[in-house]
Amino acid sequence: MTQDPVSIEPLCLDEGHALGEFYPLKQQAQAEDFPADPAACRKDFLGQILHPRPGNSVLAWGARMGGRPVGLCAVGVPEAGRRWTADVVHFVVHPDVRRTGIGSRLLATATGHLAGLGVQKMTAFTSGPADGAGAGDAFAEATGAARILRYQRLSLRIGPTRLATDGDTGAGCELLHWRDDVPAEYRAAFAAMSSRLAAEEAARSGSDQVPEDFDEDKVQELYAVLRAWGYRTYLTAVRHRETGLLVGYSALGMADSHQRHASQWDTIVLPSHRGRGLGVVLKRANLSWTVEHEPELATVTTWNAIGNPAMLHVNESFGFRLDQSGARREWTL
Ligand SMILES: CC(C)(COP(=O)(O)OP(=O)(O)OC[C@H]1O[C@@H](n2cnc3c(N)ncnc32)[C@H](O)[C@@H]1OP(=O)(O)O)[C@@H](O)C(=O)NCCC(=O)NCCS
Repeated sequence: MTQDPVSIEPLCLDEGHALGEFYPLKQQAQAEDFPADPAACRKDFLGQILHPRPGNSVLAWGARMGGRPVGLCAVGVPEAGRRWTADVVHFVVHPDVRRTGIGSRLLATATGHLAGLGVQKMTAFTSGPADGAGAGDAFAEATGAARILRYQRLSLRIGPTRLATDGDTGAGCELLHWRDDVPAEYRAAFAAMSSRLAAEEAARSGSDQVPEDFDEDKVQELYAVLRAWGYRTYLTAVRHRETGLLVGYSALGMADSHQRHASQWDTIVLPSHRGRGLGVVLKRANLSWTVEHEPELATVTTWNAIGNPAMLHVNESFGFRLDQSGARREWTL
């Protein structure tokens, strides 16, 4: 049987409804690749394209077969002057038409265009089963992407016993809880910790990538973007009473259509306060804070960089168990 020819066109991002046609593709791919995960959230899918991360704009290309959307590549491109590395936002081909070269054509279209803008590298996150490679991993290998950092996804089932205690911060510290934003007076300290986390992650990777840097404005913008993506975010920070300084935080997000599933994001404790169990205290307290507002919450997943045994230990002691593997990939353009 012959198939309709595939056309690849840039997508006009001014109109949400054109993009909306590509959402079922994402949904069907996710159901095929990760059947145990919750369905892809539409608001999150569209939001990540229509409301780029601070300092980025998004370019996207769609593949259609007989008019039907069968592939999508959306990439976040840093503003002019910082255009070294672009990061894939969505890269997906419909399961029915994989291994027919559509992914390769989307990749060639995107990287050709990005190279013309002066972008030097493109990164993407790929994931697969805990004990093997997924389609994205195989595709990245086949198309010459370097693997710059490996990750494990860990998953935690929430039981009532986990919520019994808020945790002990030890002498001289107190916990602060926020929702959907970081209060203005704490943004600078929060930004410094986010920058430190990004620098530590970059140091662990084999890449020469410049780590992301945060300041007060960027933190404010980032949480505004997360709200536009439909996320409900829960944050807990540790504050040193005597100095008033923040010494750690933990953040968690729930997509608009998800009631039972949350993603654990950053957790960091400043080096001067490490080794005292604050990582576990922060995660437990933030989870309790979340459940107060999200009574249906049943699972939390988190990505853990391989080469960060301290965080792996915190997560495992907390009850998180391995359920997927992942990697950050990098194409040199
Ligand atoms: C990754 C993905 C986009 C690839 O799309 P695709 O249209 O199937 O890719 P192509 O047909 O161009 O594949 C090119 C080559 O990659 C390799 N490849 C792709 N999928 C593979 C798989 N499942 N197993 C082994 N090799 C694979 C092969 O070498 C293939 O060439 P071949 O078919 O001639 O052997 C698609 O599998 C997908 O949507 N996966 C889920 C989302 C995802 O992982 N996105 C991240 C991508 S960076």
